[in-house]
Parts: sequence; C-alpha cells; structure tokens
Amino acid sequence: MSRPEYRIPGQIKTGKLSSSSGPGKTDFPEAKELFVEKLICHDPRTKHLMESEMALSVLPATGAGAEITGVDISRRLSESEMTVIKNAFAEHGAIFFREQNLTEAEHITFARRFGEININRFFAKHRDYPEIAMVSKEPDQVANIGGGWHTDHSYDQEPAMGSILIARELPPSGGDTWFANMYKAYETLPVDLKASIRDLRAIHSARHVFGSRDDMDMLKKTRGRIGNPEAADALHDSEHPVVISRPLSKKKALYVNPGFTIGIAGWSERDSESLLGKLYKHAIKEEHITKYQWKPGSIAFWDNRATWHFAQNDYQGFRRIMHRITINGCPLESAFADTKKAS
Ligand code: SIN
Repeated sequence: MSRPEYRIPGQIKTGKLSSSSGPGKTDFPEAKELFVEKLICHDPRTKHLMESEMALSVLPATGAGAEITGVDISRRLSESEMTVIKNAFAEHGAIFFREQNLTEAEHITFARRFGEININRFFAKHRDYPEIAMVSKEPDQVANIGGGWHTDHSYDQEPAMGSILIARELPPSGGDTWFANMYKAYETLPVDLKASIRDLRAIHSARHVFGSRDDMDMLKKTRGRIGNPEAADALHDSEHPVVISRPLSKKKALYVNPGFTIGIAGWSERDSESLLGKLYKHAIKEEHITKYQWKPGSIAFWDNRATWHFAQNDYQGFRRIMHRITINGCPLESAFADTKKAS
C-alpha cells in the first residue's frame, strides 16, 4: 500500500479510508482501502473559511488518476492548495473533482493556472469562449468524439499537456470516460519487451482522423463537431520516443496510442502493427484503468503524457455536452536520454 504523498509539514492528518464510508468517501467504484490525507491550509487570504471547508484530500484510484475532495475550484485557490493539486496531478497523471459549479470564465481561469491554453483546431468552439472546445453528441448522432483509446495531440511536435473536461449535460446513464495509466502500463511490461522498446521512436499522425482523406470517417460521423480537415492535411507527422520521461514527474511512461500512432520509425507496417498490438493489449489491462462515471459538476483533468482516455458511446438517443480546455505542452524526451548522453 502506498504511503501518504503530499506533505506540508505540521499541517497534515493522515488516516485510512474505506471506499464506501466516512467523510471524504471516494466516488471510484473500484477504490480499495486508501490512505487519505487532510491538508488543513492556513492561508491568510482564506482564513474566513471554516477549517472543514479547507480540508483537501487526495484519493488515489487503483487504475489511473486520483480524486481530489474538499476544494471548491471556482474560487481563487491559495498557493498551498495549488501545490497540492499540482503535486497530485504530477504524481497520478489525472485528477478528478466532484460537485463543482464552474462558469465558463472560471473554467478558463482555473486552466490558466496550469499553463497556456491551446485553442483547438478541429473541434467546434464555444459560442462565447473560443478557449473552450465543445465535445458534444446530439440525440440523433451515432458516433461520438473520442470513442476509442487515444491520447490527445500526440500528432503534434509539442503535444498538448492535458485537458480539463467539465460535464455540462449528461445522458441519464452511460457516457463514462475510461482512463488508462501509462506509468503502470510501462512499469508492468515484461522485462524483454521493456528492453526491446527502450530506444524506439513512434510516428504519430492526425490525417487519418481529422484530414480530408478521413480513413475513420470521423468527419461525416461527427457532423458539425469536427472540422478544418485542411489543417490536419497540412500537419507533418510527428515522431516521439516510445518510452518518455513524463515532463512533470520524470517517471517513465509508455507513449504510443491506438488513436494517433501510425507506426514505429524505421519499421515495416507489419512489424509496427505487431509490436503496437502487444503494447496496446497490455496497456488496457483492467488493473490500469479507471472508469470515470460523470455526474453533474464532475471534472476530469488528465495529462496526455501519462494516460490514455476513451469516451464510452453507450447512450444512444440522448445528448451529452462536455466543455474541454486543453493546455499546451512541450517537446517530449526519451526516458533513457540521460543514459544515452552518458554512454
Ligand atoms: C475526448 O476528449 O476525447 C472526449 C472525452 C469525453 O468526452 O469523455
């Protein structure tokens, strides 16, 4: 069992939590017994708040990510609260919040505290806030956006860091988003497979998904919600290490994905498919996955360099409207860059 991770000396209480009872109970259906930490923040700007309102807990999921409770992210967060949130994000690769009530402007303000906003080239934009991409599915539409395992923007030279997704209108049931943990996917690979992918690089592309020669028929199926195929056609494919050192945590993570990776650099299509198939099969083992069930006020914030995600499309005939803000990233380094430099 992992030890408590976030420490502000002298301000921490730790305890054990069962998944189904007690204050701060987790919403992860698969959560096991967890260590929970309460950080009682003593920030002068928020001293008017009751201590109980300031108790921030980080509850790691057994698959991917961690849920953060005890914080209202619509208000101006103190530096110590931001430190806990950023550390949790760096450590777990995805963070989840419940019962939030953010306006569009507050969504943008929160996102800006993590980096520069990336205005999406392919998705429909919010009418009043171009920073927000609309991830929508109408009752008469059959295909959804993100309906397969992928990691956003791996086709870019500097892939986006991550996205903050807010549920605005949900179907009565279904429409969960699944997240897979790419740290665990890498860590648990067989030793010989780890050795064989160590120095490989993979090619990523957006053309087969968003381009005018749309092999997946996405443009037609997602009518009005994805566009700008010329921008995808003009994109050069990008190449990234298969095992990256994730920028925020420096942990090793598997960085190939079924949505946008089109092959291993220098390998034949057949050999690429065979290796990628093995890696994908391993990556989506049940123990690496969190199935995030949306409720009104739910928020998921994931790092594309540490997770994959997959929007479930099991709510035909109902509307699902999500607001997504994506944050810029940086070039990606091989997890073994240092050993190569040293040798
Ligand atoms: C996506 O960003 O791929 C969509 C995720 C979702 O709608 O759950």
